[in-house]
Amino acid sequence: MLHQTNLTDSAAVILAAGEGKRMRSSRPKVLHELAGAPLLEWALDVCTEIGIGQVHVVVGHGAQDVKRVFANRDLDWVEQTERLGTADALRRAAPQLGTAKRVFVLCGDVPLLRAETLLDCIDQHPAGGLSFLTTEVDDPGGYGRVIRDGDAVTAIVEHKDASPNQRAVREINSGIFLLDRSLIDTLLPKVNNDNRQGEYYITDLVGLALEAGLPVSALRVASEEVLGVNSSDQLVRLERLAQDRIQGQLIQHGVRIVSPEQTYIEKGAQVGADTLVMPFSVVRRGARVGTGCEVGPFCHLREGAILEAGAAVGNFVEVKQSRLGKKTKAKHLAYIGNAQIGAGANIGAGTVFANYDGVDKHTTTVGDAAFVGSGTILVAPVVVGDRAVTGAGAVVTRNHDVPADTTVVGVPAKPLESKVAEEER
Ligand code: UD1
Ligand code: MG
Repeated sequence: MLHQTNLTDSAAVILAAGEGKRMRSSRPKVLHELAGAPLLEWALDVCTEIGIGQVHVVVGHGAQDVKRVFANRDLDWVEQTERLGTADALRRAAPQLGTAKRVFVLCGDVPLLRAETLLDCIDQHPAGGLSFLTTEVDDPGGYGRVIRDGDAVTAIVEHKDASPNQRAVREINSGIFLLDRSLIDTLLPKVNNDNRQGEYYITDLVGLALEAGLPVSALRVASEEVLGVNSSDQLVRLERLAQDRIQGQLIQHGVRIVSPEQTYIEKGAQVGADTLVMPFSVVRRGARVGTGCEVGPFCHLREGAILEAGAAVGNFVEVKQSRLGKKTKAKHLAYIGNAQIGAGANIGAGTVFANYDGVDKHTTTVGDAAFVGSGTILVAPVVVGDRAVTGAGAVVTRNHDVPADTTVVGVPAKPLESKVAEEER
């Protein structure tokens, strides 16, 4: 899609102060993970994707934890100590908006909003006015209803304040707004808390804008994009949608996923074209699979797993912080942790990279075209040279490096020649 909009003069305010009581968890709601990424990260990434100039995040409940998780991002944190409503949250951020001409209001607990939708919202935004995203749902209970006169929006009425007729409306406010800066300066201070919940509602800006003769526009979008997470069962339902999104994008780029419903790929995991992903495979964020690889069935690629082109990992193989060079294969039952493996190597069934001594993790290096026999244990730190061979069941002990072109066997593993000589003695 070709959008020429320059959004460096725009700001986003992400509302994330809510406690999320219905999650029944001590963790702040926006830190709950969807496809391996905290909910808030999804909203932040959309802002990055469309190039918004400044991002303000309103935090309250668990603020310190939330800030810590995103400490490496360039964000303005706004604290809302008392949860007085969505308009109050926006008000806290208002002094920080600098020269921003337009302000998006997003929710930290609405993860599946697409960048394209925000760009559409900008395209149809009436100059000097207010836009918001709406959607139709079967069960609008609890949401703000969008009241229209013909096509024109006349108000958003919160569920608790709505009449029976208004409650019958199935078009709801998503909570996502685009506001001209002037509205924040002139109308936001006028929002009061004269309603059933005694809260300052951001939705009151709609009525205030109309009274002031300013244009208001409501853009209907697919409901999955604006679904919020309020409870743990809603989060579980979004997981499926997130998988459809993540896997759908990979499939479009040429990845072959045989059975998407039996595959789990986290946000940010990379998988190259022509790679075949067999069922029951898990690809975590921070894993990078190259082109033409084979993954699974039943494999677990964790953070820092790098598969170069044509590499293959099969059933019950776990890879973590390890690189498998081009065309290297580990087809059955292996743990590969903290390993640097060259090209064309073979990691036999049952191989374990013993990377952890109980205190520290150590690295194992395996050379090009090395052949690691079935049931080998490589106790790190250790090096297995190019084209070296380990016999079935060998235990290669730490720092007892195997030179290139050498075969070692036994426990502890010794070069084959010396082993034979030993037995002949
Ligand atoms: C809000 C909307 C409602 C809409 C619904 C969509 C208002 C008044 N109502 O209702 O029209 O249909 O979202 O999900 O805006 N938050 C703060 N500080 C506060 C209050 C809320 O940061 O003081 C944050 C929450 O963490 C959440 C978002 O704002 O991310 C929405 O708040 P929530 O309490 O969920 O509003 P709803 O009652 O669901
Ligand atoms: Mg809500």
